[in-house]
Amino acid sequence: MKTLLPTPLKYQKNKLSFEGHDLQKIMKNKKTPCYLYSKKTMTETYKAFYSEALKAKIPNPLVCFAVKANPNHEVLTLLKKSGAGADVVSVGELKAALKAGINPQKIVFSGVGKTRDEIIFALRSHPYGIYSFNVESIEELEMINDLSKKENKVARIAFRLNPRVNAKTHKHISTGNKTHKFGLLRSDIEEALLNDSLWTHSTLVGLSIHIGSQLTELKATEKAIKEMCDLAMSLKYPIEFLDVGGGLGIDYTEEDRKELASIKTYMKAVYQSLHRHYFKKVDPLLIPRIVFEPGRILVGKMGVLVSKVVRTKQSEDCHFTIIDAGMNDLMRPALYEAYHEVYPYEKSTKLISTDIVGPICESTDIFGAQRKLPRLKSDDLIVIDNAGAYGRSMANRYNERELAPEYFI
Ligand code: LLP
Repeated sequence: MKTLLPTPLKYQKNKLSFEGHDLQKIMKNKKTPCYLYSKKTMTETYKAFYSEALKAKIPNPLVCFAVKANPNHEVLTLLKKSGAGADVVSVGELKAALKAGINPQKIVFSGVGKTRDEIIFALRSHPYGIYSFNVESIEELEMINDLSKKENKVARIAFRLNPRVNAKTHKHISTGNKTHKFGLLRSDIEEALLNDSLWTHSTLVGLSIHIGSQLTELKATEKAIKEMCDLAMSLKYPIEFLDVGGGLGIDYTEEDRKELASIKTYMKAVYQSLHRHYFKKVDPLLIPRIVFEPGRILVGKMGVLVSKVVRTKQSEDCHFTIIDAGMNDLMRPALYEAYHEVYPYEKSTKLISTDIVGPICESTDIFGAQRKLPRLKSDDLIVIDNAGAYGRSMANRYNERELAPEYFI
């Protein structure tokens, strides 16, 4: 089992283990399908992310976990204990972050559709509100400023810049160009800065970008950081922070393993771009803190979806392994044709070619086509790897299925 980033899955004497424990034993009194998470892998990944930021000389890094990747309470609590803040995109995520004890002053609120009620809730979350509203339109700023006035507060604002770059990733998770609904073009930000009526109860404290997800190479990231730095340099007064967003990918496939930048390389690239286009040009006392919004990289590898074979089926030359997990438990293959490795509990050298499919009445309910797996039978355990990010958080109850439980090791 090849992997670049730490993973809890391993074959020991041809039997699958998770965090060193035999999977069959772990699953003894547990239902399938379920998500299995490793606290150790997650906390180690967080620590690696933070310490590589420090090693790369990123000034005063604040790691705001993108809650959408995995809003599980224990996940958020553990990350909070490790020092993380949160990037949220709804009042539900904001409440989840607060419930886990995350300090509102470590929470950034992103998203193009923040509603009146959500803004009011965020303004009331702390005497000073949250760390930042990452604003994505002028209308949004207008609403925040009005509500902030009514609440007798001053809202902390960061503009999310649309840096007009093409991130090399799946088109459904690319967000950095003007055809995407995300962020504001530089010209619109400059216009908003000149309009005093937008700033009576708001103050500009930062700039942010987020150009896409599952990024493996860093060219577009570097370019986007340059665009953000150029804008920051043109501002009349210094800002408190620059938010470089999330997006760093994990290795799902062999191809990813060839292309994927390590956390270390990512941090170096982020620092170099910031240094070249901003830090070296300003008074060191005015250097802003750097905010990150990682989601997938922190939790993707720590989780798997465990399932059991229901039965198999042969249709002439097509073979199907039908399992009890469905696309409702992990939407990624159906939504983005994403590749997830599938592992049987028992390793074997006698393999057949089979489609791993779920029970849902959709032809997109397929976890992998023509995979080489042993011939499995009813009740055999099977694992879908790398399901810690955007697995349970995107799950739904289609076909009136129960939401699968989450267990920690
Ligand atoms: N910040 C913002 C503003 C975002 O919109 C996102 C993700 C992140 C941070 C975290 O990105 P990450 O580090 O996880 O790449 N459901 C898709 C991914 C959608 C990502 C949406 N935004 C998938 O399963 O691949």
